[in-house]
Amino acid sequence: MTETAAPRKRLLIRTWGCQMNVYDSARMADVLAPLGYAPTEAVEEADMVILNTCHIREKATEKVFSDLGRLRDAKRSRGGDMVIAVAGCVAQAEGAEITARAPWVDIVLGPQSYHRLPEMVARASRAAGAVIETDFPAEDKFDHLPETTAPQGVTAFLTVQEGCDKFCSFCVVPYTRGSEYSRPVAAVVAEAERLVALGAREVTLLGQNVNAWHGEGPDGHAWTLGRLARRLAEIPRLARIRYTTSHPRDMDDDLVAAHGDTPALMPFLHLPVQSGSDRILKAMNRGHTADDYRRLVDRLRAARPDLALSTDIIAGHPGESDADHAATLALIRDIGFAQSFSFKYSARPGTPAATMAGPVGEAVKDARLAEIQALLRDQQAEFNRSRTGMVADVLVTGPGRHPGQMAGRTPWLNPVHFAGPMELAGQVVPVTITAGHPNSLSGVLPTSVLATTRERPAA
Ligand code: SAH
Ligand code: SF4
Ligand code: F3S
Repeated sequence: MTETAAPRKRLLIRTWGCQMNVYDSARMADVLAPLGYAPTEAVEEADMVILNTCHIREKATEKVFSDLGRLRDAKRSRGGDMVIAVAGCVAQAEGAEITARAPWVDIVLGPQSYHRLPEMVARASRAAGAVIETDFPAEDKFDHLPETTAPQGVTAFLTVQEGCDKFCSFCVVPYTRGSEYSRPVAAVVAEAERLVALGAREVTLLGQNVNAWHGEGPDGHAWTLGRLARRLAEIPRLARIRYTTSHPRDMDDDLVAAHGDTPALMPFLHLPVQSGSDRILKAMNRGHTADDYRRLVDRLRAARPDLALSTDIIAGHPGESDADHAATLALIRDIGFAQSFSFKYSARPGTPAATMAGPVGEAVKDARLAEIQALLRDQQAEFNRSRTGMVADVLVTGPGRHPGQMAGRTPWLNPVHFAGPMELAGQVVPVTITAGHPNSLSGVLPTSVLATTRERPAA
């Protein structure tokens, strides 16, 4: 069957978890497009539904099973004519449990098998039970996934690294995503160029441990992420480069230096610390102390004084005392974060922390998380307020919520809203920040920018 003759079918993908899942969902859509699958948001008209799942905390996992319950009804009301696939980290970790608890699932596939999806769909149509692929395949999925042709927004994700060898005591990722793997420089550069040709002005390099990336360069040697950033900065029209998520242990001198010498590398870094207590950091197997983190932040700020930081914190890891919790609050105060994510510790089956001594009670976890979040919220609000009066370079992402309003992002990733014409979408323009709100900024275009856009005839 040729591509144009393929019958039109509808595909619904629901995505949970991290940005790598967002990227993977887009690639699954790419790989199914030649089979005639076009995207839909409506479950009633979906011929195929993919749940791209996250296993990181218990709540995320449970959502998958409640969603599967609703999908059973949707499938029934279509007389069974619906392919249901579970992908992502829950599929990888709990494939057998999924097929046992939800026998109406047709396909279970782990994150390394997405290139096999078309063949699995064909097999599922013949198979009596579910078709399952949760082994780590020998071949590299990136070599077998089609190049994306979908139009890109102004900002795009690009996975450069997958997997994790760190084995933090609390975390499932090394088990669900396998060991660390870095894509070669040529593949990354080619994909970044393609994304830019399709409309992207900003690319965020993704990896569970993105700064552990050490892909092979054209010279046959492993490159550092800093060197990759400098190479990507040479791509015409690629205005901004970001990367996430970094591990403090992998922040090498060259990457720190790149923050100082590569203007396209944005002055914003998500650098999870998890705890401010050395005792707990050790129990977590993070491989660094709280002071190591402080010193690293000093080095980063020396290289790039306007660098803003974001972090992840876990409240109530096994063994965490009031003093450990106080040390976390102290570290947060010392650093001053512009953004953050914080979570109650969630015991994950199979991880070392799940069986550690000294589990923290739910009420204590709640109280500690509330205290951490209040402090982090204040810091974010303070950071946003401190932007007031600045002229920030804003990458305009598209229209805002109100008529005549545009939306964009500062170098520090703050959403900004300002009055301006549609034709600014995709451009980097100076915006005078007039107010900092808890989660966003307001601004105005300087009259000089407004004047130049008015002079241009409307497209
Ligand atoms: N690779 C990244 C984090 C990936 S998971 C890193 O090393 O920092 C994203 C975040 O989820 C983690 O930073 C951590 O804060 C949180 N997390 C992971 N496992 C968790 C668990 N069992 N309970 C609560 N939060 C968890
Ligand atoms: Fe999980 Fe730690 Fe690996 Fe991050 S570094 S993905 S927290 S094991
Ligand atoms: Fe979740 Fe897997 Fe990402 S567990 S956070 S979707 S790597």
